[in-house]
Amino acid sequence: MSAAQIGVTGLAVMGRNLARNLARHGYTVAVHNRTNAKTASLIADHGDEGTFVPSESVEEFVASLERPRKIIVMVKAGAPTDAVIDELVPLLDSGDIVIDAGNAHFPDTIRREAALKAKGLHFVGSGVSGGEEGALNGPSIMPGGSRESYQVLGPILEDISAKVDGVPCCTYVGPDGAGHFVKMVHNGIEYADMQLIAEAYDLLKQGLGASAAEIAEIFKSWNEGDLESFLIEITADVLAHVDAETGQAFVDIVLDRAEQKGTGRWTVQNGLDLGVPITGIAEATFARALSGSVPQRAAAVTTLPALAEDFRITDRDAFIEDVRLALYASKVVAYSQGFDQIAAASAENGWDIDRGAMARIWRGGCIIRARFLNRITEAYERAADLPLLLSDEYFTGAVANGVPAWRRVVSQAALAGVPTPAFSSSLAYYDGVRAERLPAALIQAQRDFFGAHTYHRTDKDGVFHTEWSGDRSEQSA
Ligand code: 6PG
Repeated sequence: MSAAQIGVTGLAVMGRNLARNLARHGYTVAVHNRTNAKTASLIADHGDEGTFVPSESVEEFVASLERPRKIIVMVKAGAPTDAVIDELVPLLDSGDIVIDAGNAHFPDTIRREAALKAKGLHFVGSGVSGGEEGALNGPSIMPGGSRESYQVLGPILEDISAKVDGVPCCTYVGPDGAGHFVKMVHNGIEYADMQLIAEAYDLLKQGLGASAAEIAEIFKSWNEGDLESFLIEITADVLAHVDAETGQAFVDIVLDRAEQKGTGRWTVQNGLDLGVPITGIAEATFARALSGSVPQRAAAVTTLPALAEDFRITDRDAFIEDVRLALYASKVVAYSQGFDQIAAASAENGWDIDRGAMARIWRGGCIIRARFLNRITEAYERAADLPLLLSDEYFTGAVANGVPAWRRVVSQAALAGVPTPAFSSSLAYYDGVRAERLPAALIQAQRDFFGAHTYHRTDKDGVFHTEWSGDRSEQSA
């Protein structure tokens, strides 16, 4: 048996499907799993899809690979990933490449990349988006690590990635943790996108008294326009689904407590660290936490009065169009904020991430894939260092077209007592970022009053403090 060109260890669904995708593309794939049963079942179920080289031990697995070895690790993030790396490293030779394709937290990737570099090895933290279907048929792949490793690994990953207009949804992202960072922001945007869709669904349900099946049809029609995307498509699918056991709309029998594995939370923590107002992503993450706040909700539902107006929609079609426009505008804000976060982290870490390239590889394969990402790619082609995606000529026009509707929907929701944290915070961000003057001036004055934290003036350079407890004279700080 010839040496394997690439290996996958960790054959749960994602690892198994990545191995199958590689084999289907003609690569000889070494496969290994801690419990051999998973390796055996992969060969039994899919051994005819290509050339697999199964191994029972890690030693055998490493020995079955050609040099420089390329090993994809697809196990749970955190300690399990460290454990597999610790097992592999002593068996590897200089120049070999370890690829972590799980949802690792990017600081862990930075640490691992430095540790393996010190041993003459390459460590590639790579985002892989698209779920199990994407892993099998073409994900969006976001590899970081050394450029040298990408020269060897890139062609293979581009081969198995999704393609849009013949262009692979895979490119070199940047050094050390850059790949996992971009995947983390992808997931943060995913959270915002999903929350916005959920709020649109809730508005249509409460505003129109529409059934899940009726709302499915609305989303289906939206998916033929600017909102065309994987998440809108699957939303129409999910809302149309009927629960076999009860005959009720499936969504109506699902418990309304959203869970999260952690990538959205990491995104928000990083946004706070960088000082990037990713309000849409944050509200989406907190909305999941609120939905799971069982004791608080149980107490509130019996004690807090709605004191809201009846949600009376007179013109059904006009309201549906308003919600569609508000959803699109809010979505632009969420993506604009996500790309700002990528720019800020790139500058902070010296990653030199090309945002246009990130939008390009997100056009297909990943969970946030959407027609709209073509527009973002074009925006960054017009201006690679665009300070604010919202201020790109296309998006300025597209969002402005929806602002009146956006204001109506957010107002109607507030008056009707329907929670729309992502719609509302996105509109507040839009009005905040475009404001000529913000009330932050008063905050600066307050901070100087109680903490002598100083302030700047609009009319001259310098840093100042007022003697609030004395003669209130102003001093240069
Ligand atoms: C992807 C998905 C994938 C996973 C999410 C789930 O890009 O393929 O985002 O990474 O399904 O991480 O995240 P939550 O459990 O946090 O919603």
